[in-house]
Amino acid sequence: MTPKKFNQDLFRFIDQSPSPFHGVRYMEKQLKATGFLRLEEKDAWNLEANGRYYITRNGSSVIAFIMGKEQPWESGIKMVGAHTDSPCLRVKPEPAQNSNSMTRLGCEIYGGTLLNTWFDRGLNLAGRITCRIIEDEKERLQSILINYNRPVALIPSLAIHLDREANKNRTVNPQLHIPPLFSIGDPEKSLPFKEQLLARAKEEHPGTGIQEVIDYELSFSDAEPAAYAGIDNEIISAPRLDNLLSCHAALKGLESAAPSSTAMVVFTDNEEVGSDTLAGARGSFLESVLSRMAPTPEQFARTAARSFMISCDNAHAVHPALSDKHDPNHSPTLNTGPVLKINASQRYASDSESSALFRHVCRRAGLTVQNFVMRSDLPCGSTIGPAISSQTGIRTVDVGAATLAMHSIRELSGSNDPFMLFKALNKFFSLDEPPLLSLT
Ligand code: CO
Repeated sequence: MTPKKFNQDLFRFIDQSPSPFHGVRYMEKQLKATGFLRLEEKDAWNLEANGRYYITRNGSSVIAFIMGKEQPWESGIKMVGAHTDSPCLRVKPEPAQNSNSMTRLGCEIYGGTLLNTWFDRGLNLAGRITCRIIEDEKERLQSILINYNRPVALIPSLAIHLDREANKNRTVNPQLHIPPLFSIGDPEKSLPFKEQLLARAKEEHPGTGIQEVIDYELSFSDAEPAAYAGIDNEIISAPRLDNLLSCHAALKGLESAAPSSTAMVVFTDNEEVGSDTLAGARGSFLESVLSRMAPTPEQFARTAARSFMISCDNAHAVHPALSDKHDPNHSPTLNTGPVLKINASQRYASDSESSALFRHVCRRAGLTVQNFVMRSDLPCGSTIGPAISSQTGIRTVDVGAATLAMHSIRELSGSNDPFMLFKALNKFFSLDEPPLLSLT
């Protein structure tokens, strides 16, 4: 595997994952193709040594694991976590806003979106719709995924001539300015939004007996595919690098590992809105899966105490024009190595023991580790690491690939960064020794 091939695979994943639902469906296909068996939360499980399994929740989170020879409470679980969601625009239930023969779609802002980057870009529309279906004369509800997979809307900027101060102080009002322009013409003559969705659903899923779209979770995203940039292709420019880059690196790391003890990836939804959801890292998904691998309270406690998680989420690379936004001694750069994230207020779960283990893994993989700590006069963001660590009692380190323009509609990373993260995670899964250090 070369970085180039690895990136091709990453680009395909990003392009085919405009929503967490699509991302999980894509990963599911990869898992099936590499021998992972689907388990259902509602069924009884029979886990076998060396077995490969995965479970999804809400279609937007997935946990996959390879069972070790020994029980999880005997040798622990090596875990890597990441999130499947990215900041975006979520379509409201009654979205149509008509004026001057133009229809815009009202949206809520999902996550900490950098809104000014969303103007004048082709926007794709994708997500989950729940439909009334009639099959063999029986009526039922079913959710399906749709993806227009092309620019179906955009948000036009106001011309500079109508706002001469725009370059000084244009602000974005999400209610007034963000609803993307979806169609032009007499709204009386165009199909209502749900009818449009119905037509698209029938086109994507012919012969499935879809009668009506009852509800939906649809979001706009950048329609432009992931691409290289830079004079030597040393940069990646892509939507949703935060955090599909990490999901991809972790999945590849697991698939190609030959772990001696149980190894697991945990990809959860809703990190960008706090993780406190059905499928989020603060929800019950991981704990529920772990408690079925280690059913008694004692087995669970022993498993947690012997396990280790690398929580992966992108890290802020130092900006070429605004380097003073970083602490000068903790300014990660692109194409240098994975970033270890540290915060005294524990907005990141890293501590000296978990950090030491990550450095140890990277040294074994021949990688340089960079350190990120926020400036002491700026507040720090957070991620899934502290949620998982505090809820399960699993020692965790927060790391990530260096990234510029985080939460922009297009984010940048170095073209070697995804592969370096993969090498670190693959090495972690392949470590012979137990994941926990015996320092204490
Ligand atoms: Co993130």
